[in-house]
This record gives sequence, C-alpha cells and structure tokens, in this order.
Amino acid sequence: MSDREQWSSQSGFILATIGSAVGLGNIWRFSYVAGENGGGAFLLLYLMYIFLIGLPLVIAELALGRRAQGDAIAAFDGPAPGSSFRYAGVFLGAGAVLILSYYSVIAGWALKYFTGAALGHLWDTAAEGYGSYFQSFISHTGEPVIWQTAMVIATALVVAGGVRGGIETLSRFLMPLLAVIITGLAIFAVTLPGARNGTAFLLAPDWSALVRPEVHAAALGQAFFSLGIGMAVFLTYGSYMPRSFPLPRSAAAIAIGDTGFAIVAGLAIFPAVFSFGIDPTSGPQLAFITLPQIFLQIPGGALLGVAFFFLLSAAALTSMVSLLEVPVAMLVQRLAMSRRRATGLVGVTVLVLGLPSAMSFGLLSEVRIGQNGILDAADAAVSNLLLPIGGILIALTVGWRLSQQDAISESELKHPRLAYIWLWILRLLVPLTLITIVLQSASML
Ligand code: TRP
Repeated sequence: MSDREQWSSQSGFILATIGSAVGLGNIWRFSYVAGENGGGAFLLLYLMYIFLIGLPLVIAELALGRRAQGDAIAAFDGPAPGSSFRYAGVFLGAGAVLILSYYSVIAGWALKYFTGAALGHLWDTAAEGYGSYFQSFISHTGEPVIWQTAMVIATALVVAGGVRGGIETLSRFLMPLLAVIITGLAIFAVTLPGARNGTAFLLAPDWSALVRPEVHAAALGQAFFSLGIGMAVFLTYGSYMPRSFPLPRSAAAIAIGDTGFAIVAGLAIFPAVFSFGIDPTSGPQLAFITLPQIFLQIPGGALLGVAFFFLLSAAALTSMVSLLEVPVAMLVQRLAMSRRRATGLVGVTVLVLGLPSAMSFGLLSEVRIGQNGILDAADAAVSNLLLPIGGILIALTVGWRLSQQDAISESELKHPRLAYIWLWILRLLVPLTLITIVLQSASML
C-alpha cells in the first residue's frame, strides 16, 4: 500500500490528533459534568483516569494503527490474520458513525448560536431569556436538522480533501487559533469580580470524591470521551504516521493538550458562572442557556459570545472530522471506493441516523429509552457501553494478542520498567476497570 497517504509533518499530526481530542467534550460536556460532580472532586479523578488509563490507551491505539498501516479492520486483523477479531474494526467503525449521529446535532446547536451571535440576533432575545430561546429552538422540527446538516457537510468537505490537504490543513490553522481564544476567555473570566469562588470550585481538590463510585464513573466516562479513545480514531490517525515520529511523546502531547484545554475551558466558564451567582450544576444546558445570559450582562460580552461559539463550533468540527475518517478509511480500503464517494455515503448515513437525535426534543420528545430522551440515551450508550467496549478490545489486542516483544517495540517505550507497567495496565487494569463500568451501567438499564 505504497500510495497510502501520510501526515506531512509531526506538528501537523499532533495538531490533528489534538483537534480530534479537543471538542464539545472539553467545553460543553466537561463543564457540565464537572459542575454536576462537585468541581475539584471530579477534576482529581478525571486527571487520574486520563494518565492511568487514557494515556496508555492512546499509546496502544497509535501503535496498533501505525503497525497496520491500514484501516481499523487491518489493525485488529494484524496479530493473527483471518481471525474473527477483525470484525472489531467494523464494530468500531459503526460506533464512530453512531457518535457522529448525535454529536453533529449538538455541534449544529453551537453553529446556530455562533451565527446568531455574529449576526447579532442572539442578543435580541434578552426579554424571554435563553431558557425559552433554547427550548423553542431544539423543539422545532426542522431547524436543528438544518444546522446539523450544515456541520456534517462542512465535515465531509474536509475529509474529502484528504489526510494532508483536508484534515491536517484545517487543524494547523484552527487549533492554534482555538488555543488563543480559550486562553483569552479564561484570562477575562478570572478577572471578573467574585471569580475566585469559581476557580476554587474547579481547582480545590476534594479527597472524599475518591470513595464515591458515581464520581469515578463520570470521571472515567469523561476521560474516554474527551480524549476520544476506544473508537479507533487514534488507530486510524496512527496508520498515517511515519515511523520517524516519536510515539510516546506524541501520545503525551495529546493527553496534555486535551487536559490543558479542558482545564482552561473550566477557568473560562466557572469563574463567570460563580461571578453571576449561577448554580454550576445546571447540566447540559450550561453552555446554551447560562453562558449567553452572562455574555449579555458583561461589557463586550457580544464579542466574547462570538468568540465562544466560534470556538465551540470549530472544536466540534475537527472532532467530527476525525470520527468520519474512521469509516471512510474502511470503505476506501475495503470496497475500493473513492474518498469522495465514501465520504458522501457515510455523511448521508450519519444524517439519516441522526434524525431521531435531532428531533428528540421536538417531534420525538415523547420517546423515552429508560429515563432518557433519544439524544441523551445515545450519549449514555456511547460513554457507558460503546467506548469502554472499544477500550477493552484495543487493550486486549495490544496486551495479549500481540507478542510481548512486538507490543513493547511498537510502543517505543524505551525504559524497560515503564514498558512493563504500560503492558500490564493494558493487560489487566484497563479490562478490569472497564468491565466494572460496563457491568455497572448494564445493571442500571
Ligand atoms: N474527543 C472529542 C470531544 O471531546 C469527541 C471525539 C472525537 C470522540 N473522537 C472520538 C469521542 C472518539 C469518542 C470517541 O468532543
């Protein structure tokens, strides 16, 4: 497969992987999950899971993908060709499509808010408040679908442009810009009066969280979602990685970049929330109801609002691009489809599959799966079942199906003791921890 594309530079590769990791998860999801789980209490466990479980899995995914130099099917097929393990690749590709189907809905909300903020009409809504503004938008039958479609089309255009020309070019341009925007917002927020309560809420560790199982589950789920592991994204991105890129250092850059982004986003959001005396546990609506209200009240807030919703939409775009690349790479390799056709096909599938999620607060708001509406149920299924199962498949493949020598040399971990620790984390700690989560959430169904 000598005509397979590769990243053009190490920095482009790192920016593309950070582009995948940094998304709605770091800003929208991190802030509300941290808010609901006690801030500093949650942050402590989140950091622990990122470095104990997340980082070893990022190394495993990149190593397995680079070894295969092919799609996710090839990666799982590599250790013992022809075994039924290769279907794990198909499973993860389908999972990526499922994530896209509802992720694109929320990304569409962000795009609608960005457009509204930029054109100014978002700020006319002051009288009724953003609660009813948001509610009437998401319960509309057609509008969320339109914004979702716009995001999926933008994603498809980037992916159709190829690994270098599309994905790498976009990430090189956007990621530094997003880092500047989020840092600017955080600097502004921590200088608001009363901001200290917000920084303390997020940063003061609360050791009692260590014994609360529900905070563990939330922290682990968030670590997976935020890094974007378990769904073959880093496997696929790793397959475009030349041998000359240093693997463990790249993985560390991804974990640090993603975590740093989430913390800075928290420093932009919580000081503002506390400064305005708002309850930090307002849940998923934090970014779409609480924040616009704050923007409206601070001088220069309209500009901050444009910056914030641009950030949210653009961060979502680079993550969607990475998820779309997983099934597209498979179709291109397996069915010899052109990249453009494969992208179009998956894009349409995502939209059709995403219709129930887009309508889950309107036409389909009566539909309940367990206690959840459709979109929330999809998100719960992904973070409690799909991502942990994907994580187990990857950990077992690298930990047990590759020979010990192979696994360690592919990881490029030079220090023997570190390599052993990594291997045994994959062999035992990751499967056991994730099985616990899967069983726990299955028992709650
Ligand atoms: N990490 C992204 C975010 O924080 C979303 C994402 C990208 C993802 N790739 C993934 C989530 C793979 C799960 C699996 O928003």
